[in-house]
Amino acid sequence: MPKLGVNIDHIATLREARKEGFPSPVEAAMLCVSSGADSIVAHLREDRRHIQDKDIFEIRKAVKRFDMEMSATAEMQNIALKVKPDIVTLVPEKRQEVTTEGGLDAAKQLKYLSKYIKRLQDKDIDVSLFIDPQNKQVVAAARSGARFIEIHTGAYANAKGSYSKAREFQKIKRAVALARKKGLKVNAGHGLDLSNARRIASIKGIEEFNIGFSIIVDSLFVGIEKAVKRMKKEIS
Ligand code: PXP
Repeated sequence: MPKLGVNIDHIATLREARKEGFPSPVEAAMLCVSSGADSIVAHLREDRRHIQDKDIFEIRKAVKRFDMEMSATAEMQNIALKVKPDIVTLVPEKRQEVTTEGGLDAAKQLKYLSKYIKRLQDKDIDVSLFIDPQNKQVVAAARSGARFIEIHTGAYANAKGSYSKAREFQKIKRAVALARKKGLKVNAGHGLDLSNARRIASIKGIEEFNIGFSIIVDSLFVGIEKAVKRMKKEIS
């Protein structure tokens, strides 16, 4: 059964909107876990727009499985080596974006990433590369030494019309199959919600879904426990 990683960045977005010190991402993380989340994901962005360094250390202590999302910079690597998350997901970052827009260009940065990944994996921190579902990126990820990839499902989520949806779905399916053949473990995420997660979850071979925005939005109306439970059911 695929696992559910809940990204709690937007609990911190809400806190940073007023800077009153609440709501607490750690409290949310613990509620997600007690409601069935298999792991907690948080993105420490270079601009610290939501999650702060202190949150990362606290989340690490509070949950069993922690996926730290970050860009592949020296600063973030040093923080990750101190925090020791179970897994680091490397994402591209642009200052002006409202969320992670595209996947990493693993093919272009292969040499740099290989060295970067080795330093983390040598310290028992698995590394996952967030990539678009393209053959050349999957092949590069396998060559980089990363143990995981996370397939960007945003293009599928945003595709309009049944032809585009079907085309994006096939890209994901093919990328999962190729990655598994190359010995990679496969996660998937971005833009998944109650209307589309089940379809992606029908693809065999995905270990974990990382879902944030839709669960946090849902939690405003139904509470975080119910929001996590119903997404977990959706992908099971
Ligand atoms: N995976 C990665 C690598 C991401 O950057 C994000 C967004 O922070 C997600 C998953 C979750 O995406 P969403 O918030 O759209 O569910």
